[in-house]
Amino acid sequence: MLVKDIRQQIESLKQKKNALILAHNYQVPEIQDIADYVGDSLELARISQGIKQDTILLCGVYFMAEITKILNPDKTVLMPDQHAGCPMANMITPALLSAAKQDHPKAAVVCYVNSNADVKALTDICCTSANGVKVAESLSEDEILFIPDQYLGAYVSKSLPRKRFHLWPGYCPTHMVFSREGLEKLKEEYPGAKIVAHPECRLDVQEIADRICSTSQMITYAKDSEAKHFIICTELGMLHRLKKENPEKVFIAGSPNAICPNMKLTTLEKILWSLERNEFEITVDEQMRIQALGSIERMLMVK
Ligand code: 13P
Ligand code: SF4
Repeated sequence: MLVKDIRQQIESLKQKKNALILAHNYQVPEIQDIADYVGDSLELARISQGIKQDTILLCGVYFMAEITKILNPDKTVLMPDQHAGCPMANMITPALLSAAKQDHPKAAVVCYVNSNADVKALTDICCTSANGVKVAESLSEDEILFIPDQYLGAYVSKSLPRKRFHLWPGYCPTHMVFSREGLEKLKEEYPGAKIVAHPECRLDVQEIADRICSTSQMITYAKDSEAKHFIICTELGMLHRLKKENPEKVFIAGSPNAICPNMKLTTLEKILWSLERNEFEITVDEQMRIQALGSIERMLMVK
């Protein structure tokens, strides 16, 4: 089938089924272009709460679809490929977290949303890459157990030196491809370029970045900056929106290898199939949902 026909069929099924498509900034360009909203993890969670449609089709990875279901239990939440997981989310389990909580009984547990619902259910508050510092700052506890991303945790802890952090050793394999050496070479080619890095990047990369921020915050930074060239240290899907929304600026990939294979599992064909079949429907155990919801809602209350 031609891409044009697939797009048309998706559009008509969306109307028929009263469905809406949310896509993460890392999705392939053709998916970003048909989505009703494109955003970072925090934006997608917030947007999902105000949606009137009965069905939400989430193009991203599993934890994002799971958060959508946790926040919208009465809606049908679909994911076109159920195997699109996040390896970082699987780097901590409820059993491992329970043991860590016993080691640090006074610490508040701050949980990056890149985690599974059974883990979120055991935590005090969630955060995303967009609000990690504000979330940790909002807590009365001076001791924080930050899970599962050690690099986002390190970034947050540097911004709040008065608090004591215990960092879980999780990481994102996709963001490990950026290095100080690689970026220094790119800076020789583009001397005036600003380095913009996601907080999942390693510390050597964070240290030389001009700005560290979530995926959607990169768009605001690029729009507001007077610079013309930007070296982008996050998944390659991000470049599409940056270029589309800032056509007069130049965006250079910090590495050609920054591809999240899970984010790329979703395709236009699978979206069409998903809408036709109502698959794969996301379900979350109700007791677990209520517990995880507490942690997500506390995060959403932080301004
Ligand atoms: P953002 O919330 O910044 O979009 O990040 C999500 C993610 O998975 C980054 O790897
Ligand atoms: Fe997970 Fe990394 Fe992919 Fe983000 S880019 S979804 S953290 S594996």
